[in-house]
Amino acid sequence: MKVLVIGSGGREHALAWQCSQFDEVKHVFVAPGNAGTALENKISNIDINSENIAELISFAKEESIDITIVGPEAPLLLGIVDEFLDQGLAIFGPSKIAAQLEGSKAFCKDFLDRNDIPTAYYGVFTETKSATEYVKGKGLPIVIKADGLAAGKGVIIANTLGEAIHAITDMLEDNCFGAAGSKVVIEEFLVGEEASFIVMVDGSNILPMATSQDHKTRDNCDKGPNTGGMGAYSPAPVVSDLVFENVMENIIRPTVAAMRNEGMPYTGFLYAGLMIDDNGGVKVLEYNCRFGDPETQPIMMRLKSNLAKLCLFALNGSLDKVSANWDDRTALGVVMAANGYPGSYQKGDVISYPKASSASKVFHAGTKLESNKILSSGGRVLCATSLGSGLKDAQEKAYGLVSEVKWNGSYFRTDIGFKGLRNKE
Ligand code: AMP
Ligand code: GLY
Repeated sequence: MKVLVIGSGGREHALAWQCSQFDEVKHVFVAPGNAGTALENKISNIDINSENIAELISFAKEESIDITIVGPEAPLLLGIVDEFLDQGLAIFGPSKIAAQLEGSKAFCKDFLDRNDIPTAYYGVFTETKSATEYVKGKGLPIVIKADGLAAGKGVIIANTLGEAIHAITDMLEDNCFGAAGSKVVIEEFLVGEEASFIVMVDGSNILPMATSQDHKTRDNCDKGPNTGGMGAYSPAPVVSDLVFENVMENIIRPTVAAMRNEGMPYTGFLYAGLMIDDNGGVKVLEYNCRFGDPETQPIMMRLKSNLAKLCLFALNGSLDKVSANWDDRTALGVVMAANGYPGSYQKGDVISYPKASSASKVFHAGTKLESNKILSSGGRVLCATSLGSGLKDAQEKAYGLVSEVKWNGSYFRTDIGFKGLRNKE
């Protein structure tokens, strides 16, 4: 089997590495990949941008790729799945229209609302005046979101009316997020603990992936600016068996059924960002139409079944015929970012670390290979991931791995896993 993974982050390194572990998989190509994927056995990078659909199609045809797996949301929103399928090429991901669950927050909220799927109350606005009136009527704190993709920066939690008006004006009048902010969603501020609930869907059947929890803010104790994610672990203790069943029954199954009934059957990874309250009540914060980053890294460390094969089952509509086997251990990944991220940061630092073991692996994100040296080339650079006999052990091992990375100029949180450990106490 030949596999093509699209993207260049830590998620794509983990997806490609997982597929490459199986004898049935002859080779994995990553477009465009990073230094980590370039250095793996059985994996090679190809120099095609993840949004260049025409060239990706030509490559998949020339190489007779058996399955393409899409990492990031941008090509999905451009319609890469529709175009590959039109050409008879096997690709795992949602159609352009189904990907709107992530591409437009207004689309997502309207969908959840009309299907009675639990989520924060909300309003959608294009005018500053009506948006401001809504905030005044609802009270504070309140959450203001740019409708479209804004690289994780389009969510403002307003604690004062001034902050709310500022955010609304920035988005609607000053175009600070361009077209993504020409509409705003204003919603209830939810309290609780967040978890990532990711499943594979084949249009009808659902295969849940292991649960996980991300750490979105840059600094310890969930302080500082929001980032793409500073570390994750799997499983997430906050998702008890009871919460898991509640999510499947009231959120995931109704979502998949409604997408099908509304004529946009969902195929692909579906990622529900959840807020879980103290009583185990759950609401959808957002949907993503892809795997999470960095959640993928610990989850792929635990997945014992061949991901590429699972994707092929999904494309045949037979996810009900397979199961996913998981390593019972906990996996925890610490993101090492460039100092300054998510603001401006330095690139081109030389990085080295010891060889991977069966229980520890450094996944790459923003790296490139130059004269056989690994150089930093992005904000989130590495994800040091380890398996352990529980959360504490996985945490110790992952930080042990971090301490072995030689790189001047890195920044990382020192408390990844803290909420899970608190839950266990
Ligand atoms: P999003 O880009 O929608 O994932 O939002 C980024 C982060 O903002 C989330 O991970 C939450 O931490 C926070 N957030 C988003 N929506 C809400 C909400 N309605 N209530 C509380 N926090 C939220
Ligand atoms: N880790 C958050 C995300 O992938 O959106």
